[in-house]
Amino acid sequence: MKLLVISGPNLNLLGIREPGIYGNGSYADLIEYVTGICRQEGLEVEFFQSNHEGALVDAIQGAMGRVDGIILNPAAYTHTSVALLDALKAVRIPTVEVHLSDVRQREEFRRISYVSAACVRTICGLGFEGYRQAVLCLKALLSEKK
Ligand code: DQA
Repeated sequence: MKLLVISGPNLNLLGIREPGIYGNGSYADLIEYVTGICRQEGLEVEFFQSNHEGALVDAIQGAMGRVDGIILNPAAYTHTSVALLDALKAVRIPTVEVHLSDVRQREEFRRISYVSAACVRTICGLGFEGYRQAVLCLKALLSEKK
């Protein structure tokens, strides 16, 4: 069972960008954290980060037939991207949406998520822990399907 963790714009700057909101952990720390959880759970995992919407669309399309589940933090594109929503609908790979911060408690414009409609679950406001829950959620879902 293989998962793909996709991260959108500015998440490469985790640890530097607004640590009061996103925490002190870097993007490298996030990779290490999720890799450790996947190892414990017996899952393969790969990571992709881009600041470009089209590259994120390509990553979702490229996951078709290759990975069993996606963990997606589209970052700012959450609130704007119909293209990411359409890509998820096209590939039909079970996807959990994760946000480090609690987007429901922040600015009004962060309350809208276009990708939510194509995700099996949305987890927000738990920092790195949200990714652990996303891994466990996908593992349970994918095990059921087999
Ligand atoms: C984010 C929340 C988004 O609103 C923001 O644009 C991000 C990160 C989060 O993980 O909390 O870049 O997706």
